[in-house]
Amino acid sequence: MTIEGIAADKLDPEQFIATQLEEISATVGDEIAINALSGGVDSSAVTMLGHQAIGSQLKTYFIDNALMRQDEPEQIVSLFAELGVNVELIDAREEFLDALAGITDPEEKREAVTQTFYRDVFGRLVRESGAKYLLQGTILTDVDETVAGIKRQHNVFEQLGIDPQQAFGYQIVEPLIQLRKDGVRKVAEALGLPESVYNRMPFPGPALAARVIGEATRERLALVRQATVITEQELADVDAFQYMAILHEDRVTGMREGRREFGQQIEIRCWDSVDARTASPTHLSWDILEKLSNRIVTEVPGVVSVTYNIATKPPSTMEVV
Ligand code: XMP
Repeated sequence: MTIEGIAADKLDPEQFIATQLEEISATVGDEIAINALSGGVDSSAVTMLGHQAIGSQLKTYFIDNALMRQDEPEQIVSLFAELGVNVELIDAREEFLDALAGITDPEEKREAVTQTFYRDVFGRLVRESGAKYLLQGTILTDVDETVAGIKRQHNVFEQLGIDPQQAFGYQIVEPLIQLRKDGVRKVAEALGLPESVYNRMPFPGPALAARVIGEATRERLALVRQATVITEQELADVDAFQYMAILHEDRVTGMREGRREFGQQIEIRCWDSVDARTASPTHLSWDILEKLSNRIVTEVPGVVSVTYNIATKPPSTMEVV
């Protein structure tokens, strides 16, 4: 089944919201639905749509999967508390780290995150809450790239012939499936979400696991997390679609205080893009790059090399995994 997309410039957000509110409440009826909030614009928009449509019949969880950025779980839960939405924080860190242990292949890593999320953690939350439905913020770009076999996005099932009811024991409702990122931002703004949310930089479902080449261990995740803090601070004022720090698998010879250090490599990517389908590297100034590199090699232990990606998407993709 092909999905009929709605281009952002043809979108009437108010009308779209009214239609989705009706559809969500008609689908869920008197049952319970659950959803996972990551704080990104897609899951935030779905959370607001769900709460406006079915109120307390929707239970919203933030899944701490050990792959989030510094302090992200607590920040998102308190932001939504201010918006009047109660979000339960689920500590699933050990489960995800166990599932990722020993895996280096990119698609196997994505599959491990997907299965832990949908089968294990959500399977359990569905059983405990008695929910019949999972609301989630899959968008058209996720479907396109998965169906094209480019990257298995963590949240795409039906289009791959997977029946979530059979595979996981619940049905999935996807109110944003006709939109791309630019359309979701318009809807999120119309839903009354703050600018920090509707203009929030995208962050992938597999989170920092998509930014570690090779095994995503606790230590390697901590390293890329530290580099991410610095990258996001230094590039905060740059007008870009998305920026990120990536930890490479290969180490390289460096030197510190006169001694050889066989150290880690961090790659910075910063993308200009409208809808993530194509992208080109932002023309960052040398001053910005230099400051970024100096901070990373000084503040992140063990890093001796920092590079900036200058290839476009395609043939690159935005994330490395
Ligand atoms: P790629 O790496 O495919 O990324 O060029 C395009 C956009 O999608 C985000 N991304 C994901 N989003 N689940 C998501 O919800 C995923 O599995 C996923 N993988 C990549 C990426 O951050 C970029 O904005």
